[in-house]
Amino acid sequence: VAALLPGTAWAQKPIVLGFSQVGAESEWRTANTESIKSAAKEAGIELKFSDAQQKQENQIKAIRSFIAQKVDVIAFSPVVESGWEPVLREAKAAKIPVVLTDRAVNTKDTSLYVTFMGSDFVEEGRKAGRWLVEKMKDQKGEVNIVELQGTVGSAPAIDRKKGFEEIIKADAKFKIIRSQTGDFTRAKGKEVMEAFLKAEGKKINVLYAHNDDMAIGAIQAIEEAGMKPAKDIVIISIDAVKGAFEAMIAGKLNVSVECSPLLGPQLMAAVKDIKAGKAVPKRIVTEEGIFPMEVAAKEMPNRKY
Ligand code: AHR
Repeated sequence: VAALLPGTAWAQKPIVLGFSQVGAESEWRTANTESIKSAAKEAGIELKFSDAQQKQENQIKAIRSFIAQKVDVIAFSPVVESGWEPVLREAKAAKIPVVLTDRAVNTKDTSLYVTFMGSDFVEEGRKAGRWLVEKMKDQKGEVNIVELQGTVGSAPAIDRKKGFEEIIKADAKFKIIRSQTGDFTRAKGKEVMEAFLKAEGKKINVLYAHNDDMAIGAIQAIEEAGMKPAKDIVIISIDAVKGAFEAMIAGKLNVSVECSPLLGPQLMAAVKDIKAGKAVPKRIVTEEGIFPMEVAAKEMPNRKY
């Protein structure tokens, strides 16, 4: 939009983007926030940023406030999958395009958002499962797994569980003996792992954590219980943040599946395209790898988050 400022030439008014973030629950999320803020600055986009502290009602409030402020585009990373239709309809009625980043919503009406950009969480779960199946291929007896789930009702918790189970169900020796949420935080990961250890003790062969932070909390619980993480209990987690690389280099975490938080530049490019009336793909999938502990020291200098 062009505006004539007093005594000056025509100047471009910046695009205004309202972004509602989930919270600051993990190392991943901190890196994601940083990526969005720095990319907005770089792109000359005015960012209105709001932290929902892991609460859906706070995100709904933030979106309503962006609508009232008539921002150009709204983007958000939905804490849970369901319950978004009313507020998304309000945005549509106000003709404000919405971009989903990182996490999906489960609405049938896909006209309520322009695009969803982020990881394939089901595939991340599958990668974790495939790594485990390969690792345990010569194991004859049962493999008892405990699972630390992410936030209840969130897309990554639902999808990472689904993808992992889809792979391990091919062999009956794999059994998930306990599964509980650790809300994607270190503190909760530790607390729930303590409870798992109390209930199952040495029976536990594998920990599958839906993110690195919960795995790092659980590692502490395992050590405090007098056991050796990554040796007595095989540990698999997701994100591949620097904290996970440190744990792998220290020999305490076996593998981390990558989930990139660096969505800022992609988001700003999409926001500009939307404002320019260009077509944007409905789904933009982030490309990611998997890092076992054996490659951690070599890879660490290349990590950006
Ligand atoms: O939605 C992405 C997930 O949210 C990350 O894996 C986790 O660390 C974060 O809290």
